[in-house]
Amino acid sequence: MSERPFQPRIIAFCCNWCSYAGADLAGVSRLQMPSNFKVIRVMCSARVAPEWIIKALSSGVDGVMVLGCHIGDCHYISGNHRAAKRFAVLREMLGCVGINPDRLLVDWVSASEGPQFQKIVTNFVERVAVLGPGKAAGEQRAKGTSELNGLTQQAEKRE
Ligand code: FES
Repeated sequence: MSERPFQPRIIAFCCNWCSYAGADLAGVSRLQMPSNFKVIRVMCSARVAPEWIIKALSSGVDGVMVLGCHIGDCHYISGNHRAAKRFAVLREMLGCVGINPDRLLVDWVSASEGPQFQKIVTNFVERVAVLGPGKAAGEQRAKGTSELNGLTQQAEKRE
């Protein structure tokens, strides 16, 4: 019997105004995508706290995407500029705590870019699958599931 290939667990923080709508469009257009990612809607990419990402990556999530509006299109004017700067620094910090920075992706998707959302998600899932399981393995992954659900609820409450 052949073993099932590694299926990474991915979360995608999507801003309400563009990338979440892009994800929705990809869904209603029935574009083929991996099913092993979970979308967490936030009001802006700048709303994503770096500690959420570190917590996720240390507790069973294998990869995190932060997807916002294209530069210049942020609903809050400069939120995505701030997010881009913040997560560039975070990528460097991840290496210092033993987490491969390639497990974090920051990108931009507009509301009309369902196919772009599909492409970004598919490529990222493939990339993380090649990297293999994240820092937390085994029972940590199981624990991470409940923490991830808690994180989702926290993000929803704060909006
Ligand atoms: S509202 Fe989309 S990145 Fe700010």
